[in-house]
Amino acid sequence: MFSIITLLSLYLSFHITTVKSDDTATTSEDDSQSSSTASASATATISTKEQEFMNSLEGTWSSKSHQVFTGSGFYDPVDELIFEPSLPGISYSFTADGHFEQALYRVTSNPKKPACPIAVITFQHGSYEVLDNGTVILNPIEIDGRQLVSDPCNDNGTSSYTRFNSTTVFKWFTVELNTYHGIQELQLYQYDWSALQPLYLVYKPPLMLPTITLNPVSEGTQSVTVSSKKKKRDSFIGNNLNVRERVRRYLENKHKTNAKKLINKNELFDSSYLWWIASLCICVGSVLFLSA
Ligand SMILES: *[C@@H]1O[C@H](CO)[C@@H](O)[C@H](O)[C@H]1NC(C)=O
Ligand SMILES: *[C@@H]1O[C@H](CO)[C@@H](O)[C@H](O)[C@H]1NC(C)=O
Ligand SMILES: *[C@@H]1O[C@H](CO)[C@@H](O)[C@H](O)[C@H]1NC(C)=O
Repeated sequence: MFSIITLLSLYLSFHITTVKSDDTATTSEDDSQSSSTASASATATISTKEQEFMNSLEGTWSSKSHQVFTGSGFYDPVDELIFEPSLPGISYSFTADGHFEQALYRVTSNPKKPACPIAVITFQHGSYEVLDNGTVILNPIEIDGRQLVSDPCNDNGTSSYTRFNSTTVFKWFTVELNTYHGIQELQLYQYDWSALQPLYLVYKPPLMLPTITLNPVSEGTQSVTVSSKKKKRDSFIGNNLNVRERVRRYLENKHKTNAKKLINKNELFDSSYLWWIASLCICVGSVLFLSA
């Protein structure tokens, strides 16, 4: 698992210019300094203060469950697979140069029917800006967002998988060292000042999919529903075989736990590792025996 993460972070650090959070952003901000009297919103120039905000947001942040992370472990844009995390949670990633990724797995329990929770999995990415008063605006790439909704008591066993596009505004945020856990904690405040659950820094540089548009050829609104029952109800709005296959692959994957695959890999790794240690011990033992 660690090798995968290492590879991913190598791949990603290729795309992302690392900016140390404590460095002042003055190096790249000479241009904006001269035009700081102009309104920042009117042009693409980023003020020093805004860049400092962006530097402090840089990284991958995940909620307490530590099960949901942005990146290719959540959404595979090539095969259109969403990997259902084992526990609900949310994750946001930000780069210091204005890209974000959002991964949400939310389950709302129904107080009247506890056996009927509604599960919503959301992926979005795109660009973001921080205003100089600390308000964060996420502008998703419209055609790239995805949402999977499962409402088992009302959707007749049919999960819906659709495009999703929603601009998110966070009124304010704070980044502080959580002294109890010894890690950076991000607190985002929604438009109505309600606090989101606290997020903890898990990767810096962030773990993200490529920040470019992932579905450049797709057009129009393509909304898809798929039945998880054996007898498929072909309720595709765009009757696109590729999409159908993609979603089916998702459903096939749905009940396989990713963790199991990783454990198998780890076991393989561990046993070969142990074999090497054993061989090494035998070698050292023989050398000691011979030299005695
Ligand atoms: C910051 O400015 C924007 C635009 O003027 C405004 O919508 C937002 O509420 C302001 N944020 C705060 C924290 O006052
Ligand atoms: C579920 O099935 C019932 C009865 O067949 C039908 O009335 C209802 O509209 C269906 N609901 C959905 C969301 O398809
Ligand atoms: C995406 O959302 C933005 C803002 O909410 C809206 O202006 C835009 O028209 C939406 N695009 C699509 C394709 O729905």
